[in-house]
Amino acid sequence: MPINAIVLAAGEGTRMKSSHPKVAHKLLDRPLVWWTVRAAREAGADNIVVVVGNGADEVRAIFADEPDVTCVEQAERLGTGHAVMCVRDALGAFEGPTVVLYGDTPLMRAETIVALIDETRANHNACTVLTMLPPDPTGYGRIRRDAAGEVEAIVEHKDCTPEEQARLTECNSGIYCFCGRRLTENIDKIETNNAQGEYYLTDMVEIFKRMGEPVAATCADDYSELLGINSRSQLATATKIMQLRINEGLMAEGVTMLDPNQVWVGPEVAVGRDTELLPQTMLWGKTTIGEDCVIGPNTRLTNVCVADGCSVEETVGYDTRIETGVTVGPRAYLRPGTHLLAGAHVGTHVEIKNSTIGENSKVPHLSYIGDTTMGSGVNVGAGSITCNYDGKHKSPTTIGNDVFIGSDTMMVAPVTIGDGALVGASSCITKDVPADALALERSQQRVIEGWAAVRRKRMQEEE
Ligand code: UD1
Ligand code: MG
Repeated sequence: MPINAIVLAAGEGTRMKSSHPKVAHKLLDRPLVWWTVRAAREAGADNIVVVVGNGADEVRAIFADEPDVTCVEQAERLGTGHAVMCVRDALGAFEGPTVVLYGDTPLMRAETIVALIDETRANHNACTVLTMLPPDPTGYGRIRRDAAGEVEAIVEHKDCTPEEQARLTECNSGIYCFCGRRLTENIDKIETNNAQGEYYLTDMVEIFKRMGEPVAATCADDYSELLGINSRSQLATATKIMQLRINEGLMAEGVTMLDPNQVWVGPEVAVGRDTELLPQTMLWGKTTIGEDCVIGPNTRLTNVCVADGCSVEETVGYDTRIETGVTVGPRAYLRPGTHLLAGAHVGTHVEIKNSTIGENSKVPHLSYIGDTTMGSGVNVGAGSITCNYDGKHKSPTTIGNDVFIGSDTMMVAPVTIGDGALVGASSCITKDVPADALALERSQQRVIEGWAAVRRKRMQEEE
């Protein structure tokens, strides 16, 4: 039987004080709801339904490229039970275990969901509720158990007597595994006769109890996993927990960190062993770092693939491939489409865009290289620039193997410099340079003997 996951994400999140829906706020580099969906997927969910409402389009866009995720709109927020009714109305009845999760609890682990599904299946439960013992239970739904310790009902904080509010400390996490068939057959039995006039999904516990269906409640070991995000402060707390969870995982696999509190690694990043991540490094997107690299300090790489034995220092990079033994920085900017081949060096205050830098080629200082294909063994002198843009069109530059570009060279594209050619410093190259040629574009130097001494003397006399 397929496993279904329903992720409730229609809420507003007033306390975020934001123009964006709460679940679109990012934890590390991914939206909150993305983390819940990932946990559901890792727990084996075949169909994932996200209930959207507030800022629906922004939430839908998060999953635009994920075919296993369906978004269902809950136009009016009439409660958690109503959200599930909307899913049933849109997609029909469910078969198989159906987990309900929240889009604002990003720390939830897949293993916890798997355990909940296993328990539901093993005992043929109509519903298994995941409960928790938070340090402060205020605001949470409370678990009411009978003399035998069996769960009887979930009573919302506002519907509890003051005595119950004080005595019932076990709380509803809001995460459940239902039998999909029994959930969809009976969801309409939920009513709105409660303090908030809402359809409470929590009422399913009592409804099943009355029907004599087996219901269970298990308490999570780790409350912090169930932390819901309602404010920017809680977002920062959860980010710190996730940052350290990921960094501990990397260190356990052989990655060195000078300070794990100052390294941020996204959930889809891989880092090889014996690589060192220095402070203020952020690795986002689908970045991969090989073995024996040094990354940072002050480096942000997004979708950058770095092979073994590289050093990337004080650099910002996007959508770039870096092959073995390359050194980058300090203070380089690698823009989309950059490919640095083995042994290349990109140095200080250098920007590369949509270009290949050949094997063992060097662009060491103060250069812009764009839309360029460069061969191997090239040296680009300080301050050299490919002029690839005429205000309307982008044009390519081709540089052969073993070319020497003197400092302060402008290469006005489209232009080709042949293998083994040499360009004299400060040239503005507008025509192709044949292989092995010398290209020089600058006016003759004038030398006037004694002129500086005469001037110095005149200035002294004027004082
Ligand atoms: C809910 C539970 C409570 C539990 C708590 C844990 C109910 C009635 N109560 O309370 O027992 O202790 O979560 O955090 O379920 N949502 C929708 N559509 C709606 C209403 C809510 O999608 O119409 C979503 C929200 O975006 C949120 C989640 O469901 O992600 C929970 O809603 P919220 O209003 O926070 O419920 P609580 O009152 O906190
Ligand atoms: Mg809540």
